[in-house]
Amino acid sequence: MGTETTAGYDLLYDVIRRRSSIRKLKPDPIPDEYINKILEAGRWAMSGANSQPWEYIVVKDPQVKKDLFRCYTEVNADFIYWMEQQRLFELRHPAYQMTADKAVEQQRRGAGWSAAPALIVVVGDGRRQWGTVQGAHTFGRDQSHLTDGLANTCTLMHLAAVSLGLGTQWVTIHIQEPFKKVLGVPDLMMLYLIIPIGYPAVEPSEGVRRPLEEIVHHDHYDESKFMSNERVIQFLFELRGKTLQTYRQSYVGKEEPKGG
Ligand SMILES: Cc1cc2nc3c(=O)[nH]c(=O)nc-3n(C[C@H](O)[C@H](O)[C@H](O)COP(=O)(O)O)c2cc1C
Repeated sequence: MGTETTAGYDLLYDVIRRRSSIRKLKPDPIPDEYINKILEAGRWAMSGANSQPWEYIVVKDPQVKKDLFRCYTEVNADFIYWMEQQRLFELRHPAYQMTADKAVEQQRRGAGWSAAPALIVVVGDGRRQWGTVQGAHTFGRDQSHLTDGLANTCTLMHLAAVSLGLGTQWVTIHIQEPFKKVLGVPDLMMLYLIIPIGYPAVEPSEGVRRPLEEIVHHDHYDESKFMSNERVIQFLFELRGKTLQTYRQSYVGKEEPKGG
């Protein structure tokens, strides 16, 4: 018999449930002490063989933030634009369904996440993953101890930020080079993620997740829960209405606009 208290879990679960992606942050500065606390939480993440493949660049300089955001709205957005054109119209990211140029232009004019008082740029050193057994790199599909470890450190930092009353967002980097040039990151390193941090300027969203009974199996994989391709496609369609506000305004289920 343990002490029968779930107080620790309750505290942790509360932080987990309060976290949601905050894509609009106030420009107000945040204490350096908070940034250090977030980094401190991040460095305690799990990683293969404890190889700790992460390093962090804290960006507060307005010009550097602006330069990074320009890389995002130009190179990153162009890349995504062309990738999205390969997909079935209804499954495209909504920002790239809306006869694209208008949405992309709108994104370029705004300050977006560069308005955040601080960014934590997470950089990965792939050489460190060799601390683990060779088999780890050949097992399964696309296994990477580098990105698994990096995702872990990022998750801890997102949670630490929420516990301090701050908001964060996950800014995926698709084409690393322009960002690396701005920051002077060595070629061998991976520029994994940008985490904008600041006080939330919008209410956090409720959050939506698949129910436990749908994703948990007991003793063996329950094949009745295996999603057919049709169901996965239906799931993807439905997701469009549940994540970002702008997704709800997309053309899902409607007709493709003439000339779009
Ligand atoms: C691997 C990964 C990539 C993501 N990429 C982006 C992104 O590029 N832009 C963005 O706004 N959100 C991004 N997100 C955030 C997800 O959209 C978000 O976590 C998800 O919709 C659940 O919503 P929540 O974070 O509010 O709970 C990403 C999250 C992860 C884990």
